Amino acid sequence: MKPSILFIGAGRMAEAIISGLHNKGQKQINQIFVGNRSNSDKLKELEDKYGIIPVNQLQDCIDQVDIIVLAMPPSEHEVVLENIHPFISNQFVVTIAAGMGPESLEKRLPYGTAVGWIMPNTAAEVGRSISLYTYGQFIKNEHKQQMEILVNVIGDSQHCTEEEIHKLTAITGSAPAFLYQFAEILISMTEDLGVERKIAQKLVTEMVIGSAEMLKTGKLPMELRDQVTTPGGATAAGLEVLKKGNFDQLLKEAVIATNKKAKG
Ligand SMILES: NC(=O)c1ccc[n+]([C@@H]2O[C@H](COP(=O)([O-])OP(=O)(O)OC[C@H]3O[C@@H](n4cnc5c(N)ncnc54)[C@H](OP(=O)(O)O)[C@@H]3O)[C@@H](O)[C@H]2O)c1
Repeated sequence: MKPSILFIGAGRMAEAIISGLHNKGQKQINQIFVGNRSNSDKLKELEDKYGIIPVNQLQDCIDQVDIIVLAMPPSEHEVVLENIHPFISNQFVVTIAAGMGPESLEKRLPYGTAVGWIMPNTAAEVGRSISLYTYGQFIKNEHKQQMEILVNVIGDSQHCTEEEIHKLTAITGSAPAFLYQFAEILISMTEDLGVERKIAQKLVTEMVIGSAEMLKTGKLPMELRDQVTTPGGATAAGLEVLKKGNFDQLLKEAVIATNKKAKG
């Protein structure tokens, strides 16, 4: 039987998954219900765009759904889980919140509830997330199939342990922000050279996409870097500055700081 899904939270990430389900997963699912805290305009917008069913009182639809996706901020989980606890029978409860693993969901839900955790990234909006996912201890095969539907409609995915997701969120979830910072600097420098912003953005974007495509060939970053770098040449002079400025160490520290903060 095709599962019905309730999204609690109707923000950017919920919309990315709903849009993916609408475009790629329609044949695999039944109905999509969506509730948020107070923004009825947003629910109307999602209804018009994707045909979702807006929900005012979560308890009115919980017994009609097979999957509940918690798509609100981590700080709201405590209160929402407390509210839905009495209505949980055999739904698969999946969170997409940073830092909220299956262990903390299981603690807050009736014993035996099947739970999962997906850590998508911002590229879910364009169907190109690399999403990490894991399960709780009460999972059955049907839940694994349901998880596959959710992660596949927003891009590629990797099954991990809960511990691995905690550690890897800095790489797959936060590092896109590091890359955008890198892009922003290059775009701004291109503009300083007298290039119009739109063209500057295009040049840098295509450079990033092309470089990513090269990485997808399976060649090592080191190999690709050496292909661009003639010893003693112009690129080598630029790389030397990054080395002197301890770029590698700085990046490592950024990842460590992200993980430290995520642990709370
Ligand atoms: N954006 C990303 O790149 C990204 C990546 C990985 C994971 N995530 C995770 O995805 C989750 C949502 O992020 P987002 O970027 O989509 O956030 P967002 O755009 O700020 O949306 C948050 C949504 O949660 C709803 N909400 C807040 N408190 C609620 C409550 N008590 N009950 C019901 N709904 C509530 C809000 O409703 P109102 O508008 O009515 O307040 C809003 O629809 C977060 O847990 C975040 O950690 C996001």
